[in-house]
Amino acid sequence: MINREYLAMLGNKSVIRELSEYATARGKEIGYDNVFDFSLGNPSVPAPESYRDNAIRLLQEEEPLKLHGYNPTQGDPRVKEKVAASLNARFGMSYTGNLIFPTSGAAGAIAHAIRCVTEPGEEVIVFAPYFSEYDQYVGGAGAKIRVVPMKADDFQINFEAAEGFFNEKTAAVLINTPNNPSGAVYTEETLSRLAGLMAQKSEQLGHTIFLISDEPYREIVFDGKKQPYPAKFYPHTLTCYSFSKSLSVPGERIGYVAVSPDCEQADKMVPMMGQISRGTGHNCPSSLPMLAAAFCLEDTSDLSVYETNMNLLYDTFKELGFTVPRPGGTFYIMPKALEEDAVAFCKKALKYDLVFVPGDGFKAPGFFRVAYCVDTEKVERSLAAIRRFVETEYPNR
Ligand SMILES: Cc1ncc(COP(=O)(O)O)c(C=O)c1O
Repeated sequence: MINREYLAMLGNKSVIRELSEYATARGKEIGYDNVFDFSLGNPSVPAPESYRDNAIRLLQEEEPLKLHGYNPTQGDPRVKEKVAASLNARFGMSYTGNLIFPTSGAAGAIAHAIRCVTEPGEEVIVFAPYFSEYDQYVGGAGAKIRVVPMKADDFQINFEAAEGFFNEKTAAVLINTPNNPSGAVYTEETLSRLAGLMAQKSEQLGHTIFLISDEPYREIVFDGKKQPYPAKFYPHTLTCYSFSKSLSVPGERIGYVAVSPDCEQADKMVPMMGQISRGTGHNCPSSLPMLAAAFCLEDTSDLSVYETNMNLLYDTFKELGFTVPRPGGTFYIMPKALEEDAVAFCKKALKYDLVFVPGDGFKAPGFFRVAYCVDTEKVERSLAAIRRFVETEYPNR
């Protein structure tokens, strides 16, 4: 018999995919340039030249059998050493190569981190709004996701509500900063308060609660600021990273888990991930892209376009009377819809060829996500459409 759970999932098509398919179909009718597709988080700026140059150089200079051969189960030692050294220099950490596990993007990183620190049936706490794929990452490991309601005024952590979510089954807390979908950047204050709460609950409950920190947008922070490094605040941290957004290479599937040196059983984690990868069929990310990235760890694509786009949209939404926390980073903004039902709001927007994603899937009902990883010229043209949409559909807002 085929698997009923996965079969049933075929009926639950992702809203984002559906909207993106709509945008593609509509693009065929009126030209894709005329569809303001803000549905997908696909980078809109090319990879830096250094990344391409590294890939070419590796292809030309490395011994082919070695370059294209199997990596050790725990990853290429050269990559591991370079990632550790870069994180140490940037964030004052003391990682060694054996604490780094190269993965297929952040998705692979989170899947391995969760399996390392949970038993089936245990719970993982997340804070709304959150990346909806977490349901799959956590559920796929046999753990249960517990969702703390959002703090809608600034999308930091709702600590008042969080308190009640910890119990003897709590194995881990999964955070994402800078955040998809809200664009919030967790502050030092938020991270130290979270660390304090987790330490207190670990002591009370008699077991360590691990922090899994998902950071694919670490490099996309606005106003000249930097994302405080979560692992600096809490020792039992598994940092999950992806090069998808910083280097604009989501199709290459490269990232890593970095296990904090002071994490409980730190030395066991990466070897365990090596074992986990046998069951997940992961067995290391592709060697060439991962190695190319390892030689340009301090580089990024030109990410400044996202801040330009954010400012254009934020100012317009504000001017039109939306309630909208200003994003501190990423390429997402999440305003409150102008009616209670964000799905209805987003459907009306489609009439103006504006493709927004309702917040419901991110556990942010009443809000909608705008992914502005599109050309600035297109964002500029979209502003008139947004204005027309709002003024026509919500004249008395
Ligand atoms: C918050 C968040 N976590 C994880 C991922 C997965 O990243 P990757 O595609 O690099 O595996 C994404 C992708 O968009 C994301 O937005």
